[in-house]
Amino acid sequence: MDLLQCKQLRFFGIPLNCLPCKCVALAVCVLLLRALMFPAFFGNNGIDQKNFLGIRDIEILVNSDLHRRNQKFVEVPQIIWGLNNQKIAFARACLTARMLNRTLLMPSLSASLFYKEVDLLQPILFDKVFQFEKFNSLCEGFVQLANFSDVLNRTDVVELEKGSGRRWTIERDFDQLRNFSKKPYDSYEVIRIVGKNPFLWHDHWPAKDYAKVFECLVLVEDVLRDADKVVSRIREVGKEAKTNDGSQSLLSAPYVAVHMRVEKDWMIHCKNLERKFNITEICSSKEQIMERVGNIKGLDTPVTVYLAVADSLLEDKSILGGWKEGLLPFEKKKLGVVDIYKQRPYLFQSAIDYEVCLRADVFIGNSFSTFSSLVVLDRTQKMINMAISDLCAPSVRWPSYAYNLLGESNGPRLWVANMSDSNLQSISYGSNQISC
Ligand SMILES: *[C@@H]1O[C@H](CO)[C@@H](O)[C@H](O)[C@H]1NC(C)=O
Ligand SMILES: *[C@@H]1O[C@H](CO)[C@@H](O)[C@H](O)[C@H]1NC(C)=O
Ligand SMILES: *[C@@H]1O[C@H](CO)[C@@H](O)[C@H](O)[C@H]1NC(C)=O
Ligand SMILES: *[C@@H]1O[C@H](CO)[C@@H](O)[C@H](O)[C@H]1NC(C)=O
Ligand SMILES: *[C@@H]1O[C@H](CO)[C@@H](O)[C@H](O)[C@H]1NC(C)=O
Ligand SMILES: *[C@@H]1O[C@H](CO)[C@@H](O)[C@H](O)[C@H]1NC(C)=O
Repeated sequence: MDLLQCKQLRFFGIPLNCLPCKCVALAVCVLLLRALMFPAFFGNNGIDQKNFLGIRDIEILVNSDLHRRNQKFVEVPQIIWGLNNQKIAFARACLTARMLNRTLLMPSLSASLFYKEVDLLQPILFDKVFQFEKFNSLCEGFVQLANFSDVLNRTDVVELEKGSGRRWTIERDFDQLRNFSKKPYDSYEVIRIVGKNPFLWHDHWPAKDYAKVFECLVLVEDVLRDADKVVSRIREVGKEAKTNDGSQSLLSAPYVAVHMRVEKDWMIHCKNLERKFNITEICSSKEQIMERVGNIKGLDTPVTVYLAVADSLLEDKSILGGWKEGLLPFEKKKLGVVDIYKQRPYLFQSAIDYEVCLRADVFIGNSFSTFSSLVVLDRTQKMINMAISDLCAPSVRWPSYAYNLLGESNGPRLWVANMSDSNLQSISYGSNQISC
């Protein structure tokens, strides 16, 4: 029995027509040969076994290979627009794959915000932004990502063209997905979804499924390190303030983050929304934000207040003035961390700010902002994981608030995401029903 003969065998009844199978088979052949020729190698502790493939390794190789043979995939177009839209669209792509009982092929995200000019979209692979292995381990049994190199037959593809426009209703969209989970489509190795931004429009999944996907998104190490730097800097200035104040020095000073949307673009947008929904609780002036944040009960002052603001406001000194005594406002510039952001494209800058808001001891945002809403969804999920029972208790750990809604004692209203929501509508379009 020589290697050549061995290679031509069918491997456990499977014809050897793919490279990974051949590799596994070859490894098995080598081992079998070795076992036949040098039986003493097995079970002999005196020999360094590190250099040999063990039986267990082969089992793993064979299993993962057989598993891969059965795997079917969903491919999606590049995911675009702002960080929040990209996260939502990515989650929808995952949940679509889950519904079709398939693995999502790692999509491209967009590093830049210039969505109108296609050549400026700067595609960037998912694993350059979020940790691929970590995603799969955290989301195991729920959704999984695969590499394009896992696809065995690149021509075994069927296209699923998503419709658009008024007549393409949410029901039709779902009906189409259901069709593709059945014969004859289910036998194709890859379902390639095509269409214009197919994941920005229709939503078929409950809020808690989105929360589960978002939980598995962990930024790549070097971006996390940058977020760590910003958070440490914020805590450092808080600690200095406490020390100067004569308070006991803390190992880690708490901080408050305010996602302060008062830039001109937002003001125009929110006035339009107020007109459209006929409500007046969407736009908050900077004075209103400062006043309501100042009325939050139980804040241990002095405390650093990180202002997550649009870059255009970094030149506006007035956002740093007018805060209640004990609240120490800082933005990127005053913290001296602008350089950390500046060296990175848009998507990462936004992701770092998101992380800073997520980790804040207290977060205050606008309930009509998608960014704020996603932060609160994430924070709510964290509280649920920590088994905090009454999410709306006034003294809850890790509270979030909406400054555009009036709460107790003229403060902002306590805010948690409603995990029983049957879709993400309230997060995508904003809401004043914030379930506290
Ligand atoms: C999902 O796919 C796996 C293999 O890819 C198969 O074993 C399983 O039965 C499928 N489940 C459903 C509900 O179709
Ligand atoms: C995906 O496959 C390519 C080519 O085989 C490889 O370079 C890359 O590291 C893989 N990525 C992951 C996240 O496994
Ligand atoms: C790949 O898929 C195509 C289309 O389904 C099929 O015609 C072809 O035989 C497949 N090739 C292999 C090597 O399985
Ligand atoms: C799904 O399949 C049914 C039956 O084949 C068909 O009537 C219907 O139009 C399909 N739906 C969509 C959205 O393609
Ligand atoms: C807007 O709401 C107010 C009260 O909240 C109501 O009196 C008014 O009729 C509404 N306007 C429209 C156009 O619906
Ligand atoms: C949460 O959402 C569910 C489903 O939409 C709804 O029935 C419930 O009233 C909501 N809870 C709160 C507190 O808003």
